[in-house]
Amino acid sequence: MRKKIVAGNWKMNNTLQEGLALTFRIIDLLKENPADHVKVIIAPPFTSLHPICELINKEGVIHLGAQDCHQEKSGAFTGEVSSDMLFDLGVKYVIIGHSERRQYFNETDALVLAKAEAALDVGLRPIMCFGETLEQRNSGKHLDAVKSRLENSLLKINPTEIAHVVIAYEPVWAIGTGENATPQQAQEMHAFIRTLVAEKFGKDVANDISILYGGSCNAKNANDIFSQPDIDGGLIGGASLKAEEFVAIVKAVYSI
Ligand code: PGA
Repeated sequence: MRKKIVAGNWKMNNTLQEGLALTFRIIDLLKENPADHVKVIIAPPFTSLHPICELINKEGVIHLGAQDCHQEKSGAFTGEVSSDMLFDLGVKYVIIGHSERRQYFNETDALVLAKAEAALDVGLRPIMCFGETLEQRNSGKHLDAVKSRLENSLLKINPTEIAHVVIAYEPVWAIGTGENATPQQAQEMHAFIRTLVAEKFGKDVANDISILYGGSCNAKNANDIFSQPDIDGGLIGGASLKAEEFVAIVKAVYSI
């Protein structure tokens, strides 16, 4: 049985105090409504990881993720953070290849692969993100666009490591826009991704790998989106910044 996962990507939001308060509240709400078979992850900015990790370790209800890592283990890369450093801190997951990293920091598929491998090398689980642009969707090229990204990164992961990868389908046009993919659009892509994983790594791996949906997912649309057979949870941006809404999304996964 593959895992149900809801991960909150805080992006560049929340000071340390704000982040601690949000984490406290999420933990409290989850204690009131335990969601045992859903893995709940939050990915705060680097600056808050350590104190939030201490809080999470004490409470044991949620898991910690980071939003990026560098592909090298160490060295002269001013301003960067390695997967080793994250693992050492107690981080368990790391988002790799988010479309904002691709768009604003020119991350290529090759770099996404290198970062995912660096994460896997130290025992971190990468949440690898893929999605098409609006232009690609409107011209009917969305499946090809995502396939090409997968072929250049995810499908090159060492087969001995693939079971540790989480996939996120995030159509670029849906991220932060308030316009989510319809459940049918998302299901089509998730099933397509699972087929490609099966062709490369086998059916068992494909059945066990979690594929999350991300892009304007909120407490209102979560139920419909998560009711699709190949959607195993969500990668949540804006709606993860409010504890009540984030936990409502977790509960939507819990109820499927
Ligand atoms: P959104 O972002 O939920 O705010 O659309 C999702 C993401 O970027 O992961």
